[in-house]
Amino acid sequence: MNAANEHSRSLWMEHPITYDSPRLPGDLTTDVLVIGAGIAGLSCAYELACSGHQVAVVDRGHLGGGMTARTSAHLAFELDDFFEELHSLRGEDACRQYYESQRAAVDRIEEICRQESIDCDLARIDGYFVPAEEKDIEYLRKELDAARAAGFADAQWVDTGPGAWSSGPALRFPRQGRFHPLKYLDGLVSSLHRRGATLFAETPIVGLEEKNDQVHAKTGRGGTITAARVVVATNSPFHLRIPIHTKQAPYRTYVIAGRTPKGAAADALIWDTLEPSYHYVRLQPGDAEDVLIVGGEDHKTGEAADMDERLARLEEWARERFPELGPITHRWSGQVFEPSDYVPFIGKSPGYERVYLITGDSGEGLTTGVAGALLIRDLINEGSTPWADLYDPDRLMLRGAVEFVKENVDAAKHWAAHLRGGEVSSLEDIHPGEGALIKLNGKMTAAYRTDEGDLKLCSASCTHMGCIVRWNRFEQCWDCPCHGSHFSADGEPLQGPAFTPLSKVEPA
Ligand SMILES: Cc1cc2nc3c(=O)[nH]c(=O)nc-3n(C[C@H](O)[C@H](O)[C@H](O)COP(=O)(O)OP(=O)(O)OC[C@H]3O[C@@H](n4cnc5c(N)ncnc54)[C@H](O)[C@@H]3O)c2cc1C
Ligand code: FES
Repeated sequence: MNAANEHSRSLWMEHPITYDSPRLPGDLTTDVLVIGAGIAGLSCAYELACSGHQVAVVDRGHLGGGMTARTSAHLAFELDDFFEELHSLRGEDACRQYYESQRAAVDRIEEICRQESIDCDLARIDGYFVPAEEKDIEYLRKELDAARAAGFADAQWVDTGPGAWSSGPALRFPRQGRFHPLKYLDGLVSSLHRRGATLFAETPIVGLEEKNDQVHAKTGRGGTITAARVVVATNSPFHLRIPIHTKQAPYRTYVIAGRTPKGAAADALIWDTLEPSYHYVRLQPGDAEDVLIVGGEDHKTGEAADMDERLARLEEWARERFPELGPITHRWSGQVFEPSDYVPFIGKSPGYERVYLITGDSGEGLTTGVAGALLIRDLINEGSTPWADLYDPDRLMLRGAVEFVKENVDAAKHWAAHLRGGEVSSLEDIHPGEGALIKLNGKMTAAYRTDEGDLKLCSASCTHMGCIVRWNRFEQCWDCPCHGSHFSADGEPLQGPAFTPLSKVEPA
């Protein structure tokens, strides 16, 4: 199981990966094992297979069933946390390397589509950064200077933004991109097959051990995969308890999509300056009509229960700006990890010699996933890359960054303290299809009542590091506010870092 087993369906899930992947029932030996079949893992597998490695890919759920299926699929190399902010924290070289690596990622996607004949609706289009309020116009000027200093020579000030929505000034970033993420992954999977890679679904990895210049990966099916190198591309690294998880924070973000007449909205990427959560907009062109995709309304994972209101606000916001938007056909949510110094963690895994990782996707995990694949390919093949220091997972975090994460963890603890007595006092108060926290025999219990009326009871202690999970009524799952694990209504892990189920509680 994975995030594909959460309740909502994205627009992209109408075209799932077509390859019917088997489970791995026993043992396997390979040159490189890639754990995780999202954009990061499949891109890494592709790069390594192209350079002659024997590659195996495993996923604990459907291939492509993780956050890549829940994205909005902007391919942007303008930093969504802004070059101006990265410059203040890590300086100009960091900005240059970030720009260079993200631009290389979008170019690489285009090149792979051409080489492998992948038809995934890829187009290079303009990106526009627009002010949410008049007062933000000044910030745009600063960001333009920072983006140009990072290398974005053709970033431009325009007096009128895209289409009817934004009549005021905006920044224009040429040659960004958009695609259909699952059609792209489907193409990568076919290419991997042609190159002799093996791919397995429903095969969770539950342990990693380095011994005698090999890595032994234990599968949840009782087997062991032995590999010379392992890449952990599980969106959130499952094999580390503390490193990394103290440097990034999980956020839920929401998306709606609806049909719109052809030509009514610009085929562009658009995002605004709204704080704390910006809006992001794009078009998915169709034959007779287009689909408008609008996202935003983020909150720290596990710290909101008003998902319906958030989705309603997104729709209202979209209709004000795009009056020709038809009925909303898709509503979904997903999770991103915000790295505290704005840069993902990609490279050799802390505590290991032969294990590499890609995490800290922020709202740009598609491009950082592909940049990560290029970086790890070069680390494995050449032993070094010019981008290694920028993304080093072991880097020291600067002061502001450390405070950011502390605030997040304190907030999660506060939240847990509020709930000491549970959310309901009787199991009778939990209606069919709902979940709630209840104190049973002195222990905080995650209780869910199925539509048929049966009760499923689990410990509310997250199996990663013991934080109290919260019911997500929109996705019908339990979310952990500390480091972003998700569990199904009856406690099965859907999203890491946790990889073991919530422990079952027997009804009294
Ligand atoms: C609503 C939303 C909008 C977004 N918009 C954008 C955007 O416009 N542009 C952009 O660039 N990014 C965007 N992002 C971010 C981006 O989509 C993600 O960061 C990216 O898809 C993550 O890819 P991934 O390969 O790291 O993870 P995933 O796609 O989650 O893949 C990880 C895989 O690992 C598997 N796995 C986990 N643990 C194990 C284990 N123990 N054993 C085996 N397998 C395991 C999972 O099942 C999963 O399939 C958005 C994200 C969301 C949620
Ligand atoms: S994800 Fe770390 S404690 Fe839950």
